[in-house]
Amino acid sequence: MKIAVLGAGNIAIQPNGVLPNLHHIPDKAVVTAVADPVEEKAKDAAARFGIPKAFTNLDDMLDYGDFDAVVNLTPIPVHGETSLKILQAGKHLTTEKPVAVTIDEADALAEAADAKGLTVVCAPPNMLYPTRREARRLLAANTIGQVCFVRHRSSGPGPAAGAWPTDPSWFYQKGSGPMFDIGVYSMHEVLGILNRPAKRVFGFFGITEATRTVPSGPVAGLTFPVTANDNNLVLLDFGDSVFCVIDGTYNVWAAKSPRMEIFGREGCSTCGATSTRPRVSSSRSTGSTTSVAPGVGSMWTFATSSLPSSTSTTSSAPSSSSTSSTWSAAPGRTS
Ligand SMILES: NC(=O)c1ccc[n+]([C@@H]2O[C@H](COP(=O)([O-])OP(=O)(O)OC[C@H]3O[C@@H](n4cnc5c(N)ncnc54)[C@H](O)[C@@H]3O)[C@@H](O)[C@H]2O)c1
Repeated sequence: MKIAVLGAGNIAIQPNGVLPNLHHIPDKAVVTAVADPVEEKAKDAAARFGIPKAFTNLDDMLDYGDFDAVVNLTPIPVHGETSLKILQAGKHLTTEKPVAVTIDEADALAEAADAKGLTVVCAPPNMLYPTRREARRLLAANTIGQVCFVRHRSSGPGPAAGAWPTDPSWFYQKGSGPMFDIGVYSMHEVLGILNRPAKRVFGFFGITEATRTVPSGPVAGLTFPVTANDNNLVLLDFGDSVFCVIDGTYNVWAAKSPRMEIFGREGCSTCGATSTRPRVSSSRSTGSTTSVAPGVGSMWTFATSSLPSSTSTTSSAPSSSSTSSTWSAAPGRTS
């Protein structure tokens, strides 16, 4: 498949980004074009990654058209308008999250894709990770009993907190902000693992600082106004007395709490804090031992919450990248 890349910023060129990693699938994807309004960025990316054509705008790239799909790596506020143009030009679309920032924009994308029989793929990919799929399977198997509530944390310090490689100010402007930037990871995981839609949504949204200043890195000293809400808590009601609270802020410098905790009537499932290699564990009432599913590179621990743990350890399947896994089920319970 021939693909074009729109936006040659961080996520396009950084070592764990899109362009440096396409060499993993050379038989499936060849990049024929790149576009960025900053000409130097488009030309640099083209030279560095051997892309034949570089453009300074999407329209010119779509006129060229020698590709089947576009990977949209633009800033959040322009996802909707650029993705719509891509679909209207008859190209398949992979886009960074969120797919759009209004329901109307998202609906327009779905309609455009349906009308032309095009495929749309949107980040994040977290529900493809073995850990998250295993979490969903274990919940469906009633391993922690009736689910009561979920706490999910997606906050971080924000791109203006450290040495961000480029100007991060757009992350803090209306139409962007941490709920769209990182809160979507929580939404995606909670809905995916519970495997059900929310029925009601409530939110508390605020701006904590009127201006932010980048402390270090190439744009150190850059000061800009904050117009997007950067301190957000969202409550989800899934019906049947199943609730969830999600935080999406640029105000968390460190956290000891797990990224996700799911509390059930018979146990608790947690997912650890590291984003690159998430570790998953669960606790529940005492019992026997089994191993995690083959290929799950994570740790599941089931332990009593009110009594000292009586868990024991087994090795993961040989294909798993983790060293060991622990999982004790309640007596008489299989999962
Ligand atoms: N940087 C990360 O770690 C990261 C991680 C995951 C997802 N993302 C997502 O990737 C997207 C891009 O983020 P980034 O960090 O690369 O931002 P960035 O600011 O570094 O890069 C965005 C690029 O898009 C270009 N651009 C702006 N308007 C454009 C337009 N209308 N058409 C084409 N190009 C345009 C800019 O010139 C810039 O080069 C965002 O949606 C972000 O949420 C970023």
